Amino acid sequence: MRILVVGSGGREHSLCWAISASPLCDKLFCAPGNPGIAALAECLPVGAEDIPGIVAAAKAQKIDFVVVGPEAPLVAGIVDRLAEAGIPAFGPMAVAAQLEGSKGFMKDFCARAGIPTAEYRRFTDADLARAYIREKGAPIVVKADGLAAGKGVVVAATLEEALAAIDDAMVAGRFGKAGAEVVVEEFLDGEEASFFALCDGEHALSFGAAQDHKRVGDGDTGPNTGGMGAYSPTKLVDAAMEKRIMETIVLPTVAGMAKEGAPFKGVLFAGLMIGKAGPKLIEFNVRFGDPECQTLMLRLKSDLLPALIASQQGELKRFDLRWRDDTAICVVMAAEGYPNTPKKGTEIRNLDAAGKLDGVTVFHAGTKADGAKIVADGGRVLGVCAIGKTAKDAQAKAYKAVDAIDWPGGFCRRDIGWRVL
Ligand code: AMP
Ligand code: GLY
Repeated sequence: MRILVVGSGGREHSLCWAISASPLCDKLFCAPGNPGIAALAECLPVGAEDIPGIVAAAKAQKIDFVVVGPEAPLVAGIVDRLAEAGIPAFGPMAVAAQLEGSKGFMKDFCARAGIPTAEYRRFTDADLARAYIREKGAPIVVKADGLAAGKGVVVAATLEEALAAIDDAMVAGRFGKAGAEVVVEEFLDGEEASFFALCDGEHALSFGAAQDHKRVGDGDTGPNTGGMGAYSPTKLVDAAMEKRIMETIVLPTVAGMAKEGAPFKGVLFAGLMIGKAGPKLIEFNVRFGDPECQTLMLRLKSDLLPALIASQQGELKRFDLRWRDDTAICVVMAAEGYPNTPKKGTEIRNLDAAGKLDGVTVFHAGTKADGAKIVADGGRVLGVCAIGKTAKDAQAKAYKAVDAIDWPGGFCRRDIGWRVL
């Protein structure tokens, strides 16, 4: 088969890494890809959000199956447009991608389907939002309704912070249209986990759990980021918890979306808060997590590609996936200045040698080729991953590889995996 992966980050590099190993894959393409992906796939110069461009490229290259990495094209209807062109794709159609594309939609859906999540109200009027915040008190959470590149959520410890978040989103228009409506919700206490399930519109198959580290600094300090590292599995989600998450969150979602005429296909990523009252849903994403995906790909023993195809074809019921018992860790190396203003263009050396170390795989995220050199070209630049018998072993291997990479312009957290160690 001729396969096209859409996206250019570490998540997509790890998806290409897994798909390129499939006996079903004859030729792999990626749009737009990155220099790491270029070693596994033919990269096409089309942006992930250029939907007409992706459809045209998929037709021109006679692609049999498309795998969409990021959320923005899913929410914008890339799977619908590909289907119209007769090209099957892994991921939800636009109506189902609203689970991530609109926090208000997701919260109303959870209320209808009886899915445990934080108590909430939706607002299009700033004064009403402020009055509700004053009534409820802090801590409280303010979220822009639409996609805001991970920056639309404020977990406010004080009333002032919450009110400032309303001004930011609804008065100053910081997130444009995405912030014209906000969700104000109850603060949930507990420990966070990322849970994944492949869905085919009717059935769901657990794809395991991971934990990521959102804050930029060691000890979970500093501003939020897209994720500075991840590990899988996590003790927080044992077999009993996995069953509970499937029964109380994933299966009712798949059934509810089907009933409402928006069957969910693709990977459902439940961001969970696991506290005393059990797992509660913080948010849904309609794609793999980054960097969680990198750790899942290292642990997956089964061929990924047939599972993705079964999700699209509605054939997951018969599927079973096999996993390595080992722990996988991903340490993100970011460019100095991330998450605010990452410095671009600094040279990264010794990547090949680091990638050959025992148990190590280095995924590219924000890199660029500059002649024979690899240079930083984004915030999160590399995902240095390792798999080991224990979390400690995986962590030691990953940091050995980090230390082998010669990149004075980059930094990473030194404590990825601390919760499991
Ligand atoms: P989101 O973009 O929805 O993933 O939110 C970003 C982060 O904000 C989450 O990973 C949580 O750490 C935090 N968060 C979001 N909603 C809540 C909530 N209701 N209670 C506590 N923390 C939250
Ligand atoms: N690492 C969290 C996410 O991909 O949204």
